[in-house]
Amino acid sequence: MKLFPSTGLSKAGVLGINSRNLDFIAAYNPRRFYPLVDDKVITKKLAIEAGVTVPELFGVIRYGGEVHLIEEIAKRHKSFVVKPSRGSGGGGIMVFNGVAKAGLRRMNGRIMPWGDVKYHLNNMLSGMFSMGDGSDQVMLEERLVPHSAFSKLAFGGVPDVRVIVFRGIPVMGMLRLPTAESDGKANLHQGGIGAGIDMVTGITTRGVQHNDSVDLHPDFETPVRDFQVPGWPDILELVSRLGHHVGLGYVGVDIVICEHKGPTLLELNARPGIAIQTANLRGLRPLLEAIHALPDIPEDVHKRIEIGKANWTRQSLERFHTLEGDHV
Ligand SMILES: Nc1ncnc2c1ncn2[C@@H]1O[C@H](COP(=O)(O)OP(=O)(O)O)[C@@H](O)[C@H]1O
Ligand SMILES: [Mg+2]
Repeated sequence: MKLFPSTGLSKAGVLGINSRNLDFIAAYNPRRFYPLVDDKVITKKLAIEAGVTVPELFGVIRYGGEVHLIEEIAKRHKSFVVKPSRGSGGGGIMVFNGVAKAGLRRMNGRIMPWGDVKYHLNNMLSGMFSMGDGSDQVMLEERLVPHSAFSKLAFGGVPDVRVIVFRGIPVMGMLRLPTAESDGKANLHQGGIGAGIDMVTGITTRGVQHNDSVDLHPDFETPVRDFQVPGWPDILELVSRLGHHVGLGYVGVDIVICEHKGPTLLELNARPGIAIQTANLRGLRPLLEAIHALPDIPEDVHKRIEIGKANWTRQSLERFHTLEGDHV
């Protein structure tokens, strides 16, 4: 089923890729800030400076001669993920939860032999999964554990929450759920489920997989709608604060709600995809235009969150044009 009939797309306020690139990314994201978010090692440092929780970095493999280091790091930490530092869409990421003599244990219980692990690391180093040309480095990172509320909604990996933040104001969100098909990753391109989120309550409204509506998680048969995302107010605060801090006007912030660490930053994206609109069955354009029209943006993060919620419910944003220090 086509979720947005193509003729009705712009009427529905759906933001197309060209407009996203020109009106929002080019206009609001100075190029000099791209390196901060395109490289996950740098993003991690920036987030730590901003006081945001991130997965611990166990090590970085920079070239072929260092690939053997994985054995040592694996023995020490046992549960971790490997990911290309400049990867996107889940490409190249592998999640491991144990070490055996013969290799590393994947989330599906199978052992990946050391030879295959190292071959994969070399592929990641060659830049096969990375943005731009040229080689990349491989991060070995702490494996986050999903919050217990996801026990019947996340198959073999951690869900994440993507929030589009514009001028420091949260605009639209979706919960992404890993499936057996998506192999421990929550990315939609890998076969994860995207569920729209009501920005006021943090409750999911509907789900999509491969652009089709889904009501039930295919691996558990549990409903994907009417799920309360745990810690929603904390998530809104984290994304709005960081979105403001990073210098990019238009940014996608990916958060994992970890059972042990709480809301944890996975990555920032300077060119967030537009499929979030399909997950919410709602266009971004009117929400972004209302924020674009604001003459000034409050420094206070809670005020920005209130603006985001009012925008979502299409209330007038005028009343937020109060003097700094006023409470809304
Ligand atoms: N440290 C981690 N622990 C557990 N799962 C992870 C971790 N990092 C990434 N993942 C899984 O992989 C997906 C993609 O990770 P992310 O860091 O956002 O990279 P990409 O840029 O490729 O999207 C996440 O949504 C999550 O499901
Ligand atoms: Mg991501």
